[in-house]
Amino acid sequence: MNKVKHIAIIMDGNGRWAEIQGKKRVKGHEAGAEVVKAITTYCSNNSEIERLTLYAFSTENWKRPRLEVEFLMKLLDKYLKNELPSYLENNVKFEPIGDTRAFSKSLQKTIKMVEEKTAHCDGLVQSLALNYGSQDEILRAVNSLKKSSQEITSEMLSNALDCKSDVDILIRTGGDTRLSNFLLWQAAYAELFFIDKLWPDFTPKDLKNIVKQFTHIERRFGGLK
Ligand code: FPP
Repeated sequence: MNKVKHIAIIMDGNGRWAEIQGKKRVKGHEAGAEVVKAITTYCSNNSEIERLTLYAFSTENWKRPRLEVEFLMKLLDKYLKNELPSYLENNVKFEPIGDTRAFSKSLQKTIKMVEEKTAHCDGLVQSLALNYGSQDEILRAVNSLKKSSQEITSEMLSNALDCKSDVDILIRTGGDTRLSNFLLWQAAYAELFFIDKLWPDFTPKDLKNIVKQFTHIERRFGGLK
């Protein structure tokens, strides 16, 4: 049976969830943040799961209307400040990935603060992908390595990425079947699950079902059985 160490999720469908209910799109993001909390707590109580990486804001999300972007920034700041006690209570280490230099100084400060205050936690690692894009991550890694005259190995590149762990399960909610520039290197051999449910409707029980399916998949990593 496969063991799941690293789960990564593209949390899609917040806007549609809100629109279906006649609410503003941002209400969907608020509901989505509640699901982030529930899924993180669920994973922190499952000792097999070591890492949960969630796509919260992509390098392409800046193209959204200014008010939606501003709302997402405020929501993130509020989420991190409000949830700090539960990170600590659940022994969850917060490790952002992505280029957060594009964020406001005050949001960068909040991100750093939660990162530092949870640095000693040795349970689940929760990574929020913030101003993250896989191509940007790979480019930054390659640029950081190019000073060396040595030929770049796969291990060197892997260690220079923001996220250094291979993904076991990659989930996308919301019905689309795209990877949208998320963990392209790390998900080389991930099992992919595309779920029709919209992110605010996704539950720990849905995740439990996916993990159960995953345990029975034959993973060959390019080899033979
Ligand atoms: C995609 O839904 C979701 C996002 C671009 C942002 C993800 C944000 C959250 C889950 C909430 C905030 C997270 C934290 C950690 C506070 P969409 O807006 O593209 O939905 P749509 O496809 O239905 O329009």
